[in-house]
Amino acid sequence: MDRIRIVGGQELTGTIPISGAKNAALPLMIAALLTDETLTLENVPHLADVERLIRILGNHGVDYSVNGKRDHQNGATSYARTLNFTARDIVDTTAPYDLVSKMRASFWVIGPLVARMGEAKVSLPGGCAIGTRPVDLFIDGLQALGADIDVDNGYVIAKARKGLRGNRYVFPKVSVGATHVLMMAATLARGETVLENAACEPEVANLAECLNAMGAKISGAGTPTITIEGVDGLSGASVRVIPDRIETGTYAMAVAMTGGDVLLEGARPDLLESALDVIVQTGAEIIPTNEGIRVRRNGAGIAPVDVTTAPFPGFPTDLQAQFMGLMTMARGKSRITETIFENRFMHVQELARLGAHITLSGQTAIVEGVSKLKGAPVMATDLRASVSLVIAGLAAEGETTVNRVYHLDRGFERLEEKLSGCGAVIERISG
Ligand code: UD1
Repeated sequence: MDRIRIVGGQELTGTIPISGAKNAALPLMIAALLTDETLTLENVPHLADVERLIRILGNHGVDYSVNGKRDHQNGATSYARTLNFTARDIVDTTAPYDLVSKMRASFWVIGPLVARMGEAKVSLPGGCAIGTRPVDLFIDGLQALGADIDVDNGYVIAKARKGLRGNRYVFPKVSVGATHVLMMAATLARGETVLENAACEPEVANLAECLNAMGAKISGAGTPTITIEGVDGLSGASVRVIPDRIETGTYAMAVAMTGGDVLLEGARPDLLESALDVIVQTGAEIIPTNEGIRVRRNGAGIAPVDVTTAPFPGFPTDLQAQFMGLMTMARGKSRITETIFENRFMHVQELARLGAHITLSGQTAIVEGVSKLKGAPVMATDLRASVSLVIAGLAAEGETTVNRVYHLDRGFERLEEKLSGCGAVIERISG
């Protein structure tokens, strides 16, 4: 199993190109199931989760091809890929356990499959071990659109032989995944669907942009009320994946931690305002430029800041672990409260191995800043937790090895290359 070895203590200086967002690319790829024409996606990141979803979609009959430059090009910005997906015929409406269990988002195929084919049989998902993560909202919502649903032997079986029909559905809780799925399903339903208390995340707006380019009639995506006028069929389109706001926030926090001056090339400040505000409060400078976002911290220490995770536009749960990494070296005490997922504090024990002082009280972590961290071997437990260990390792004295790097490979493209390009001493050790 690969490991990442870091020798901490270097400031970061230079340019980091921000990749396309994993969490936008995945639902856009799944949207290809809604049409027999080709959906072209630009700026798709090269990540293990994307490769896995390509295989899962292939199982349903989706062909794909790659345009343009692939890996091993010179110049950091030449990596983004353009992928073409064509679901001319859906050959299988079942998504089996061995595929879905490896990536929770693949459960989302249930929406397009039942909308286009009138049936879908999708295994209950696995994914990151960050709480129970049920699928009740997907089931409820699809039933509201007229699907018959059975849960049997670990599979959710959805049927709508005569097609779905539009309806009003109020999400009892904000869910990004359930919003994606119901929005996709409703594009091909008869009549109008109104989704209330929908997720407002930028990835939902990116998916709506894609679906509208395919001929859907969606308005209000990015707000809590989304209206979808069903159409008879969707066509091909070409759409660009938005830049990854979680990757942006992660590297911004890394610079806030180590000090230095880095341009996050291609980043969009409007996608993560609340996180950028918090980073500014810690004492770093954030400067939006024409090329992206410049992050700078020199001299002054890190100020402690309390944060509470919340749905967009609040502070993202996907940046909670990284922010905790930053707070371990703040000048004083901070409180970090997680409201989206239970059990999303697995990084606490590992940060403690580097010398962090953190106590847990229910869903709140109280972080007592220390003046220095010391490198140690640590274990990655989930995608975002593992990158928080990388951030802490960059600032720790001496050597840190992060084990189980496959978690990082699910969501961070060429992490060690991007960081070493800015002066970090970081390398991947294979085997
Ligand atoms: C997406 C993101 C993930 C991010 C999360 C919250 C992708 C691939 N993943 O995950 O990185 O951490 O949004 O921003 O885009 N819930 C239910 N019942 C359901 C569905 C969800 O109770 O049927 C709960 C979840 O357990 C959780 C909350 O709703 O407590 C929010 O989850 P949700 O927004 O659905 O997260 P994902 O879409 O899985």
